[in-house]
Amino acid sequence: MTIKITGTGSALPEKTVTNSDIAKLVDTSDDWIRERTGISERRIATNDTVSSLASKACTNALEMAGRNAEDVELIIVATCSPEFLLPCCACQVQSDIGAHKAVAFDLNAACSGFLFALNTAYAYVQAGLYKNALIVGSEVLSKLIDWTDRSICVLFGDGAGAAFVETSDIDEICENGRKVGVESIVMGSDGTKGMTLSCMERGLANPYVEKIEKVNPYVHMDGQEVYKFATRQVPACISTALEKAGFTTDDIDLFVLHQANIRIIESVAKRLKADISKFPVNLNRVGNMSSATIPVLLDELNRDGKIKKGDRLVLSGFGAGLTYGASVLVWG
Ligand code: UT7
Repeated sequence: MTIKITGTGSALPEKTVTNSDIAKLVDTSDDWIRERTGISERRIATNDTVSSLASKACTNALEMAGRNAEDVELIIVATCSPEFLLPCCACQVQSDIGAHKAVAFDLNAACSGFLFALNTAYAYVQAGLYKNALIVGSEVLSKLIDWTDRSICVLFGDGAGAAFVETSDIDEICENGRKVGVESIVMGSDGTKGMTLSCMERGLANPYVEKIEKVNPYVHMDGQEVYKFATRQVPACISTALEKAGFTTDDIDLFVLHQANIRIIESVAKRLKADISKFPVNLNRVGNMSSATIPVLLDELNRDGKIKKGDRLVLSGFGAGLTYGASVLVWG
């Protein structure tokens, strides 16, 4: 059985915010942000919402796949910044795009979300429950950020990316002899480190609570701890995923990694002893969009013709939870 991504799509808010724009809000500079993160600018939502961005990305992915919304059987939206706690964003997307036959639900694994959604969809399709799935990473993190906190507000951007995954009973073999589809999956979580990257929704509040605590509604992060975690855990889980599939880094054409910090990406490449030119980057233009980073980058590469049929890709992400994961797949 072949499972492949037949369409990708993305959507970014119109407003571009440069490092110099942020330097007018907090004590920072273009130099500091570029040197420490690799980010030059990001898109910030002024009208769009998590569901409107997700719906646009899904429409683009379906158009590329040559499918109608009525064909969709499963929608999984990975997000940690939905506009509603209920209904879930995936149901909003289902309604927006008219995917009446689909079952839809959200998944929150923060920046690892798209990868977790892809793997979840893969498992459902593999189990024979559905023949296809729309998987989406969509975030409007700008509303969860304290725009007076320079350690956080320079890092994030808003956006959405989607992929349409389909199955076929016939194995598809590429010209280079590789079989299209997912070759291995690794996912992991370490809840003991949850508070290194967190954002509280609301505290206990009912007539029986003695004292209702005031909640800080913004993202809090111990940047250095997350940095250490990422530079250790991402190469480790990629190595495990490669080992499971029986390959080495030389067998990989592209490493599509979560776009949080250029220094993390460079460190991962170094630890894996892989050629840095195999690690495409767009964080300079869009910043860290959490669950949306991998699918937006995937869509850009796909539309630019930088991914060819038969290419072997590693997708890998990490984020709040703390969570991490990697997948090895052959593009069809
Ligand atoms: O999607 C997953 C989410 N998160 C991540 O992947 C984040 C991982 N961590 C990182 O990317 C980095 O830790 C950061 C980019 C967040 C920070 O870089 P750093 O090299 O770890 O800087 P730092 O926190 O050690 O701060 C160094 C200095 C401090 O000043 P002092 O104490 O040395 O005087 C900070 O106060 O830089 C200061 N600083 C800033 N200066 C100018 C912190 N933020 C800024 C800023 N502009 N925006």
